[in-house]
Amino acid sequence: MNAAGEQDVQIKRVSSRKRSRGSPKTHLTPAGERGGATGHRPRPNTCSLSSIMFDGAAAQYCSDSEDLFGDYDSLLEDGSLLAKLDEAEQKARRSDQPDFTALRRRQSPEDVLTDSIMDLLGDGPSEDLPASQRQFKELIDGTAERLRDGGKTSTPVRDPERGTEEGTRRPRRSVADQMKRTMLCNAAAPSSVSRSAVLKEAVVSEEIGVALRAMETIIPETPDLGPFFGLPTRVKELMFKLRGIKDLYDWQKTCLNLDCVQHRRNLIYSLPTSGGKTLVAEILILRELLCRRKDCLFILPYISLVQEKVRGLASFGLELDFMVEEYAGSKGRFPPVKRRNNRSVYIATIEKAHSLVNSLIETSRVDDLGLVVVDELHMLGGGSRGAIIEMTLAKVLHMTKSTQIIGMSATLGNIKDLQAFLRAENYTNDFRPVQLKEYVKLNDTIYEVDQTEEECFKFSRLLNFKYSSSMKKMDPDHIIALVTEVIPAHSCLVFCPTKKNCENVVGMICKYLKEEFLQLRKAEKVVLLRELKASGSGSVCPVLRRTVPYGLAYHHSGLTSEERKLVEEAYSNGVLCLLTCTSTLAAGINLPARRVILRSPFVAADFLKRSQYKQMVGRAGRAGIDSTGESVLILQDKDRDMAKTLVCAPMENCVSNLLLDDGKGLLSLILSLVGLNISSSVDQVLDFLCGTLLFVQREQLCVETSLAEAVRRCVGLLESKDLITGTAHGQSLQVTKLGRATYKGSVDLTYSNILYKDLSQGLEGLLLNSCLHLVYLVTPYNMIAQCKTDWMVYFRQFTLLSAAEQKMSAAVGVPESFIARKAAGQTVRKTVNMEVVSRMYLALVLFSVLKETSLWKVAERFQLSRGFVQSLLSSAAAFCSCVLHFTEELEEFWPFRALLTELTRRLSYCVTAELIPLMEVAGVMESRARQLYHAGYRTLTHLANADADVLSNAIEHLLLRRANQIVASARMLLNEKAAALQEEVDELLTKPSDQPTAETRPLI
Ligand SMILES: Nc1ncnc2c1ncn2[C@@H]1O[C@H](COP(=O)(O)OP(=O)(O)OP(=O)(O)O)[C@@H](O)[C@H]1O
Ligand SMILES: [Mg+2]
Repeated sequence: MNAAGEQDVQIKRVSSRKRSRGSPKTHLTPAGERGGATGHRPRPNTCSLSSIMFDGAAAQYCSDSEDLFGDYDSLLEDGSLLAKLDEAEQKARRSDQPDFTALRRRQSPEDVLTDSIMDLLGDGPSEDLPASQRQFKELIDGTAERLRDGGKTSTPVRDPERGTEEGTRRPRRSVADQMKRTMLCNAAAPSSVSRSAVLKEAVVSEEIGVALRAMETIIPETPDLGPFFGLPTRVKELMFKLRGIKDLYDWQKTCLNLDCVQHRRNLIYSLPTSGGKTLVAEILILRELLCRRKDCLFILPYISLVQEKVRGLASFGLELDFMVEEYAGSKGRFPPVKRRNNRSVYIATIEKAHSLVNSLIETSRVDDLGLVVVDELHMLGGGSRGAIIEMTLAKVLHMTKSTQIIGMSATLGNIKDLQAFLRAENYTNDFRPVQLKEYVKLNDTIYEVDQTEEECFKFSRLLNFKYSSSMKKMDPDHIIALVTEVIPAHSCLVFCPTKKNCENVVGMICKYLKEEFLQLRKAEKVVLLRELKASGSGSVCPVLRRTVPYGLAYHHSGLTSEERKLVEEAYSNGVLCLLTCTSTLAAGINLPARRVILRSPFVAADFLKRSQYKQMVGRAGRAGIDSTGESVLILQDKDRDMAKTLVCAPMENCVSNLLLDDGKGLLSLILSLVGLNISSSVDQVLDFLCGTLLFVQREQLCVETSLAEAVRRCVGLLESKDLITGTAHGQSLQVTKLGRATYKGSVDLTYSNILYKDLSQGLEGLLLNSCLHLVYLVTPYNMIAQCKTDWMVYFRQFTLLSAAEQKMSAAVGVPESFIARKAAGQTVRKTVNMEVVSRMYLALVLFSVLKETSLWKVAERFQLSRGFVQSLLSSAAAFCSCVLHFTEELEEFWPFRALLTELTRRLSYCVTAELIPLMEVAGVMESRARQLYHAGYRTLTHLANADADVLSNAIEHLLLRRANQIVASARMLLNEKAAALQEEVDELLTKPSDQPTAETRPLI
């Protein structure tokens, strides 16, 4: 293995010789051998798209021969069956066009068999085959006949007595058996061949017998499908084709070969930012999907990251035949569609992952989850969202022993606690593809961070830059000096403490840049501005209009997600060389820079945390482009001591958040435990809690009250809120209807009673000739505090409402007179619930966006940032889907169901109806959808059938790579929708297992 990690990927094979024939693969390689043997001859491509396309049973069908027969090629040489299999498999693969008929066909296991083996052997005469192989072909034909009889359509009526999955798979398993047996017979059959051949065949059959007996006792942890860490070579090719990854880093190989990974034990691995952690997780996900035929859950912290991952994995899903399902915002089905013939990777935000796990537990399907991967595991310690990750993982740990959990992070302090919680092993490495040098700047001196120095900082150099006196005033921190040392030749990120500061700093830098900056990549900058304009329906942010020509921009949550995407892409492509940004850019998005500057050690008014600092400086150094990366933290003298701790202290500890906010997390955990029938007494709750991070850290966290006491208190509180019932001693706990609705809708416990009251009141006089009332009911309570009311704007907007809308507003508690007085600056004595008033203000914002579909206009009208309006809209969409699930559990709210289904859709997309199907494709935003629509791609089917080259030419400045991703995502979505319908049909046509018969009919 060379230093650059150039060595070929280790091939874990039992026999590379057999592999090199591209022969069928085994599921049944003994674990020990798999771990030990390394073969270096990569398998030819024959490996097997088609065999991956089969489900697990299909793979078993064509699996066993090679490991069984070892080197005894005599059986299989010249004109052999395997050669024929290979040839035909190649043929099948060549004809495997990505059209949807083929995809549909693959979904039926019967069809899989028809596609593969029947085609392999063809219909031609079999006289030229040896007797044993003729016998095998007859067996196959027989099986085919049976399958054809039973499965003329892709939705055969299944016999419940034979079980569903098992029932459909059994034929192939028996074929596999029969194949072995036939070959055994073949080996043992008397023939007219020479004595030595007879002897050889006797040895063969003996060996086969041993192998068969061995197979019966070996159940491998993860069946091996090929040479690329147990995956077919095709995966390696795809990694190169789709990601440009030629080889794995050494640590990635080591990690994938760890014993605990081989044996599917839980693992936490931590490496610096940009270390390539995701790739390891993805390979493990692929192994779980393809080799073990289990579903996977991949938890990511933000919607944008989920969408990026869905886009990134869609092509893999299409090529390797698994589903990629998005669980973010309002997307995702609960429980997920049960797919008999296919496996899914659910890519989910933290909240959606929790709901998903709940729904799987409720439907007793949690065992279907083979693997749960948590990215940015340190978020366990991140407030209420951390509590949700903890609940999710604790439930998985409690409910199933077969689900593997993998957590990864760049910043973990107390790994031991997390290991104890997850019962996981740990892998740590400080690999970075590009070396990072950390500096701090004090006055005009640059110091290198050096932990070995007593002072932590070692003199490096003096800043060399001539400042005029006006410039000194404008830029006392020498930001211009620092950035112009790298731009425009290299890229630079400047982290700023506030959003406003980002805009000011980027404007200030532009003022002092030379004219030459304007000449660089001029045409591409013009295009970027044009695209920004299109995304803003004709408006461009004045700051960006001024800075983009210089190759600079800002990036923070005040921009719309479309603007952010355009800025990110332009920066990645080098059209922009500098971004000023807030700390949000540091989390997850892969936008590295040669130099990272931290404008100050603060985020808003708070001093940076060590983990935040690490995330930010970790962006320095672009793999494959830069030889080093450097970070510069700008310090004032007063911050010097605190900064020492920041750069040198160990990482912060990750602490359980279940007790945060008066035990809000614990309350909602107990509610769902009772609701899911996991616990029905205080003791059982306590038993469950033994598997949490809170339990591991109980001595540190439960100082005033014991855990048992805290639980009893929570149970009492839940009872007082009418969410659960039980006996006086905390026995026979049961969830009430309201309680069930609350946890199923993932409604914050603080609001569940208010939501119930609001919805009940809403039923009494629901305004239906306008959507304002409904919008008000789904306006998220937790956004109220984030928006300051402008009373003048409020009053103006209020007066524009219809009489019915004003009446409704007064009925919920916001009378016109109150707003009028506030707008006039008068003091109001009347007692009005200010939460309701503020919520109605937000509802008016949402109502305007729905009516006009222009974030820009609405943001301007309400004096808000367009980014805030957009996040309000997406929060409302997510909350609307929560309210929908809430109403589904409460019979009295039935009228809301249809209304909220449609409202969720409208809030999620908030565009004219014709663009919605296109925007359902992950990552297609409004202006792109409009371009696609105008280019004739009007439906999902149009997109799914698009030729990426044609698409890329038809849409201005759509890169081929992006076009490919769009087409792949569209295909995946279409595939997923079609498969869901197919499952529904299958379900309908399946005979119920409890179908009354003459014998079972009860006497009435
Ligand atoms: N073996 C490899 N060869 C080349 N590039 C790689 C390899 N593995 C990963 N990469 C690339 O390195 C970049 C960073 O990888 P990744 O996003 O997985 O880092 P990370 O460890 O998750 O960092 P962070 O903590 O910042 O999320 C990605 O662009 C990825 O494609
Ligand atoms: Mg990462």
